[in-house]
Amino acid sequence: MKLYNGGKIIAGIVVFLIAATFPFWYGRGKAVRPPDLKLDTPVIQQLKEKLCVEPAPYMRANHMKLLTVWRDAAVREGNRSYTAINGRVYTISLTSTCLECHSNKKQFCDRCHNYAGAKPACWNCHIIPEEVR
Ligand code: HEC
Ligand code: HEC
Ligand code: HEC
Repeated sequence: MKLYNGGKIIAGIVVFLIAATFPFWYGRGKAVRPPDLKLDTPVIQQLKEKLCVEPAPYMRANHMKLLTVWRDAAVREGNRSYTAINGRVYTISLTSTCLECHSNKKQFCDRCHNYAGAKPACWNCHIIPEEVR
């Protein structure tokens, strides 16, 4: 399905609403302090600009959707290259791209998922590289 302008505007509004309301739904009402997310991995330390694939607020609210887009691009279309909104190009890979930078999966992905009560079941099939802090 191709998105034309109307679709893009609606998608934009949906993304905005998700981002704007994220602090309210993502803790699911738990009285626990937000997790302390560690971003100081060896690969991130080497980055000149400390940037994720897309801007952090977008990633915070939409990384699951981005991963679905990535999976469909790779598996259905055989496309393993993703161009970010600012023109940088990334290899589509959960293990070799996301976890290359976020090599501290336990202190980053898992910490936030535990807090939010999310349990992504990706790691039965996808390899977790050796934890690097
Ligand atoms: C039942 C096994 C299985 C599970 C569970 C699974 N995947 Fe995959 N996934 C695959 C296979 C097989 C491929 C194709 C691998 C290839 O062609 O490189 C793939 C490819 C991908 C890709 C693109 C290529 C890559 O190496 O990253 C992404 C992104 C992806 N999956 C994301 C996810 C996410 C996110 C989850 C959890 C919500 C998930 N997958 C769960 C089996 C699985
Ligand atoms: C090139 C290194 C790099 C890659 C690749 C990368 N990230 Fe990031 N990520 C970062 C950095 C640096 C930040 C912090 C950015 C900021 O604060 O502006 C970040 C932030 C995030 C955040 C927001 C954390 C918060 O503050 O709440 C999430 C979620 C995230 N990344 C998930 C992912 C996922 C999922 C992938 C793969 C699709 C990925 N990242 C790929 C470097 C990377
Ligand atoms: C700032 C907090 C935060 C960080 C950091 C974070 N996630 Fe998530 N993630 C969530 C939340 C909250 C959900 C559940 C959203 C929902 O239930 O709709 C989620 C869901 C997911 C899902 C979809 C699960 C499913 O079964 O559909 C995947 C895949 C995922 N995250 C991967 C990652 C990976 C990989 C990283 C680390 C690179 C990461 N996340 C880091 C908060 C985070």
